[in-house]
This record gives sequence, structure tokens and C-alpha cells, in this order.
Amino acid sequence: MSEEAVENILQPDFSTDVKLRVDNIVKKFVINSKQNSENSTATVLDNINLEVKKGEFLVIVGPSGCGKTTLLDIFAGLSKPTEGTVSIDGKIVDGPDLNRGIVFQQYALFPWLTTAENVGFVLENQNVKKRERDKIVNKLLELVGLSGFEDHYPYQLSGGMKQRAAIARALSFEPDILLMDEPFGALDSLTREILQRELLRIRNETDKTIIFITHSIDEAVFLADRVAIMTAKPGTIKKIIRIPLSRHSRLQNEDIRSSKEFVQVRQELWNLIKEEVIKSQKFFKLGGSK
Ligand SMILES: Nc1ncnc2c1ncn2[C@@H]1O[C@H](COP(=O)(O)OP(=O)(O)OP(=O)(O)O)[C@@H](O)[C@H]1O
Ligand SMILES: [Mg+2]
Repeated sequence: MSEEAVENILQPDFSTDVKLRVDNIVKKFVINSKQNSENSTATVLDNINLEVKKGEFLVIVGPSGCGKTTLLDIFAGLSKPTEGTVSIDGKIVDGPDLNRGIVFQQYALFPWLTTAENVGFVLENQNVKKRERDKIVNKLLELVGLSGFEDHYPYQLSGGMKQRAAIARALSFEPDILLMDEPFGALDSLTREILQRELLRIRNETDKTIIFITHSIDEAVFLADRVAIMTAKPGTIKKIIRIPLSRHSRLQNEDIRSSKEFVQVRQELWNLIKEEVIKSQKFFKLGGSK
């Protein structure tokens, strides 16, 4: 690893470069009513403003149904906001683009393709020659710890291995930004912790900007440079907190989760989220839709 890369791990320096900027995003969905002919609208996201710096790891947390996936879909260009804009490097997002890689909760691999074919799928579509493609795919499989499984089909892989393959595929076309929607949600806790470390290592080696959704407070504290807490529906940004753990200590200190700083910030985050979860439970009990 170069001296510069080591320095980067020890001392994260978010330059003033804003990678992704969110201005006044509102998202409304039309709800078709079975009882009467009039449709109603539900506001899911209400005036979201956010700046994510180049190379930053931003984690988004919030109660179920507050609009996290809706927001990520807008960042990905898979869904359009009702109002407001998202821009990347100053350019307004108006659809999907290869500068963003997406990893979903479900592994989303093609069952009829091998691991290597799944990872190389986008490159093949971009007409990257086979020899060059193989080189990239092998490097990525090594990066995510899947060397030796090139010819396995998804059904021959464990959940953790499938998710590693999905991460490799998202990295294959060298996006600047990785958008991850609860990517480790379906995994057992041991595999989850291993992949969290792997992801931090990959981030340090590739310097991607990462936006990551999770329900796990522990995961948020371990991974994030900053955590954005969303309010119960309609989703807004309630607060953004900076996590006071160095990149170095997260990877080097095996016991970081029991350190004083970790426990304190986890408690602070828990208190902020708890209020919103309680609000969203009241909302569901009342059967509201606005
Ligand atoms: N296409 C749609 N039409 C109507 N309502 C929708 C649509 N997509 C999402 N919603 C509503 O928007 C709200 C937010 O959904 P979203 O999936 O973004 O929540 P979330 O925060 O990701 O929840 P979870 O943590 O459970 O994944 C929900 O109330 C959902 O019912
Ligand atoms: Mg979701």
C-alpha cells in the first residue's frame, strides 16, 4: 500500500469536493383507493437536503417505511423525485448511470450465470474484450475473497459469497459511488461482521464514495464516517452525526465495538432512532396514510 493510502486510512480528509448533493427532495406516491374512485397522494420524503463528500462513507438509518429505499432509488436514478434535484459532481441525475453501482439486500445474481460471468456481466454489455474482462474479473474476485469460485453458479454459493459476488459486480465498471441497500441484512452475524470489515478494506483500497442503508445501529457505527438519521414517515433528515472512530482503529482494533467511544455513540444513535421508531409505530396503529 502506498504511503498516501496509509495516510488516508489514518487521517480521513474529506476534501471540500461534494460528490453527491441533494436539494429539497420531495417524493409523493399516488395511492389508488379501492373504497372510492378518488386517488390520494402520500408524501414519503419531505424536503431532504444532504451533501455527501468525495470518499465519504455515509450510512442512512431510520424506521421501517420512512423512505430510505425510495431515497436510494432516486440517487440511483431508478425513480424520479416529485420535487427537488440530486446532482453528482454538479450534474443533475436524470436516470441510471455507470458512475453509480448498486447492491441490494437480495443478492440479485443471475442464476444461470457463473460467479465470473455475473461479475463480468456489465463489462460484457459494454463490449469489453474477453481477455481484458477476465483480467478485471479475476482481480475483483481476489479483492472480495472469491478466487477459486469463478465457475460456481449462485446456488453453489453461500449467502455471504453471493453478496461478495454482487459487490464485485457493482465494482466492475468502476463506479465512483456505491449505493447499498441493507446489503448484509440477510446474513448471519458472523458473516456480516466479516463483510463489514471487507467493505471497509475495499473502500480504503478503492476510495469509493459509499451510501449505505442499514437497520443495525452497530453496523452504522462501525462503518460510517457520518450517519444520517431519518424521521418516521414522511422521511426527513432528523440529524447527521459524525462517528469519532478512525479508519485505522476500525480495521486494526478487534475489540472496537466494546470501546468507550463506540458504546457512547451507539447509545446516542439508539436514542435518536428510538424516538422515530415509536412515532412510526403510533402511525401504524392509527392506520394513517398521509
Ligand atoms: N411505488 C410505490 N407506490 C406507493 N407507495 C410506495 C411505493 N414505493 C414505496 N412506497 C411507500 O413509501 C414508503 C417508504 O418506502 P421505502 O421502501 O422507501 O421505506 P424504507 O425506509 O426503505 O423501509 P424498510 O426499512 O422497511 O426497507 C412506504 O410507506 C411504502 O409503502
Ligand atoms: Mg428499504
